[in-house]
Amino acid sequence: MSVSSKVAIGTWPLSGDFGVRSLRSIEESIQKAVDAGFKTFDTAPNYGLGFMESALGAVLAGDTSVKIITKCGNHPFKGKDFSPAALEQSIEQSLKRLRRDRIEGVFLHNPRAEIADYGPVIETLSKLKNDGILANIGISGAKGYDYSVVPDGVFDFFQQDANLLYLKEAKSAQPKFRKFFARSPLATGILSGKLSTASVFPPDDHRSGWLKGTRLESLVARVDAIREVLPAGIDVPSAARRFLLHSPAIDTVIFGIGRPEHLDGLIQDVGAGPLPEDLTKVLGDLHDADFNRPDSERSFGY
Ligand SMILES: NC(=O)c1ccc[n+]([C@@H]2O[C@H](COP(=O)([O-])OP(=O)(O)OC[C@H]3O[C@@H](n4cnc5c(N)ncnc54)[C@H](OP(=O)(O)O)[C@@H]3O)[C@@H](O)[C@H]2O)c1
Repeated sequence: MSVSSKVAIGTWPLSGDFGVRSLRSIEESIQKAVDAGFKTFDTAPNYGLGFMESALGAVLAGDTSVKIITKCGNHPFKGKDFSPAALEQSIEQSLKRLRRDRIEGVFLHNPRAEIADYGPVIETLSKLKNDGILANIGISGAKGYDYSVVPDGVFDFFQQDANLLYLKEAKSAQPKFRKFFARSPLATGILSGKLSTASVFPPDDHRSGWLKGTRLESLVARVDAIREVLPAGIDVPSAARRFLLHSPAIDTVIFGIGRPEHLDGLIQDVGAGPLPEDLTKVLGDLHDADFNRPDSERSFGY
């Protein structure tokens, strides 16, 4: 399997939730991804409160070579509701916005304690799958989600944060699912290598609410620790991307794209081959040793 086919394009950063994007830039980003051969897109009803699905629908209308996977259960303006009626309505609205009769699949969006009994959820999604509307069904887990409540062998896909800073549930949940989608390969920008302890995000970027203060300091220190083990010629984002793209345990990596230029590094790294074996091991060990950080810094979600 070519590494290129392991790429999915994550559309959250295009949605406006990371700051305003122009329509031209959104269209260019989507089209540039397709032209580069990246034919799978990940989105959600609440990215930009429905806007992102509508934008994908408008740009990709009629292009059946492109697969779109969206989410359900976390609704624009309303929050979470995983009841059968809410899931059906959510998927119906997504199809309208995406301008498609059928899609590659849906992930349940960030369930935590809301789903105590998976029975009705599975019944609802399985019916849509049997009707040919959804090719696959999956779960997009929140960090720390307890997958033991999920029945084995029912869901096709599972999506979870997986990057050089965080590989926890990626390892533990995998046996239950057919395919693993690693998301946030640059840790939502933390592994871009551009952040410093002085970085400040604009108020309309959702990271302004949580990527600051001691949390930012701790994360910047961990990115510095990664940078220190890299040889000349491999920067932090490139190491982060190649580590995941060549991990045999990962089926798809969802790369967040917020501007056309964000695709350049990805296109380059897809053609760059795996990292040297010893470097892959050093990076894995650094993660497993939790960057040797003190207990006082371990409660930040990462
Ligand atoms: N619970 C869920 O279901 C869930 C949660 C998170 C993500 N996701 C999905 O997974 C996708 C990927 O996650 P993510 O958006 O956090 O992705 P990511 O790939 O970890 O981070 C993307 C961000 O990194 C920054 N960046 C800096 N330099 C870059 C470069 N050269 N190339 C690309 N990005 C660069 C950009 O932000 P700046 O340049 O502004 O810093 C960009 O918005 C999302 O888009 C979404 O589809 C799902």
